[in-house]
Amino acid sequence: MTPAAVTVEVHLGPADVAAALRHDARRGLCASPRWLPPKWFYDDRGSALFDSITRLPEYYPTRCELEILGRRAGDIAAACRADTLIELGSGTSAKTTLLLDALAAAGSLARVVPFDVSEATLRAAADILAAGYPEVGVHAVVGDFERHLHLLPTGGRRLVAFLGGTIGNLHPSQRASFLGQVARGMAPGDGLLLGVDLVKDPARLVAAYDDASGVTAEFNRNVLRVLNRELGADFQRERFAHVARWVAEHEWMEMRLRSLAAQRVSLPAIGMDIELAPGEELRTEISAKFTRDRITAELRAAGLHLGHWWTDDAGDFAVTLSFLA
Ligand code: SAH
Ligand code: AVI
Repeated sequence: MTPAAVTVEVHLGPADVAAALRHDARRGLCASPRWLPPKWFYDDRGSALFDSITRLPEYYPTRCELEILGRRAGDIAAACRADTLIELGSGTSAKTTLLLDALAAAGSLARVVPFDVSEATLRAAADILAAGYPEVGVHAVVGDFERHLHLLPTGGRRLVAFLGGTIGNLHPSQRASFLGQVARGMAPGDGLLLGVDLVKDPARLVAAYDDASGVTAEFNRNVLRVLNRELGADFQRERFAHVARWVAEHEWMEMRLRSLAAQRVSLPAIGMDIELAPGEELRTEISAKFTRDRITAELRAAGLHLGHWWTDDAGDFAVTLSFLA
């Protein structure tokens, strides 16, 4: 049962989700090269697979970010003195407790707002937060951070957290518009806590996105299950290979699904049939990696000033705290 302290605001109901998926599938699967936005990975199964990814030996970002937050949560709370923590793409909210503990210890915490496209994962996380922080109002928001940022709760002193390096899953043009919208929604004193994965040896990056146990490959192919279930499509997952590639020119990792044979796939719900050539690839995700200079410049372009930059000991991942310039 949902504890009384939890409220859930839904901006993406089942009909909106269905319409958005149809729109994205029509647009992306007709394009050359074909592509799909990564948000469609995260049905219940995809969210659980991502959770497993965070524990893989090769997938360092989660451990690095936890190391940074474990060490710096007190500094973050002291620097922002927020009473409201808004977490975008919060997933299981596994890292949120470090921030909540620090904000509670600083005496300022009143409200937490987990925000995610995946309703079931969000509701489960909101219940866990409510049970762990009975004094704190839990206001969960089901929404798309590319469409619904203007609907975030206002008032108080807010810290907007966007962790895990998820900003890297946006294309640079989407990233600029996302950061601009976040900044426009901020009031003086509000902070943006942003986790970014850093440029490093491509071999480590490729291993992190193509792990030996094949969990990331399953996560990647999960999008085909989503299309089969939601659009009545007939993708055969075993006919697609998982591809993880470093694209030096853009400093991003790409995940793709490579068709292993010539095949025809039907998507009846959108009245589409596609012919895939052998070796043809669908791009399912980019995951951009950053340098300090690049993210500082992108924040500045959005009207934000990078106030703090913290990395793990190995320098693999960074957490930044920014305020309005
Ligand atoms: N912040 C967590 C989870 C990262 S996984 C961590 O750092 O471990 C990315 C999360 O973002 C998933 O929970 C996914 O459902 C959510 N997500 C992806 N695209 C989204 C979008 N466009 N709007 C809202 N949430 C999104
Ligand atoms: C959520 N996001 C930051 C992950 C990433 O690393 O880009 C998603 C992921 N894709 C493959 N493994 C994990």
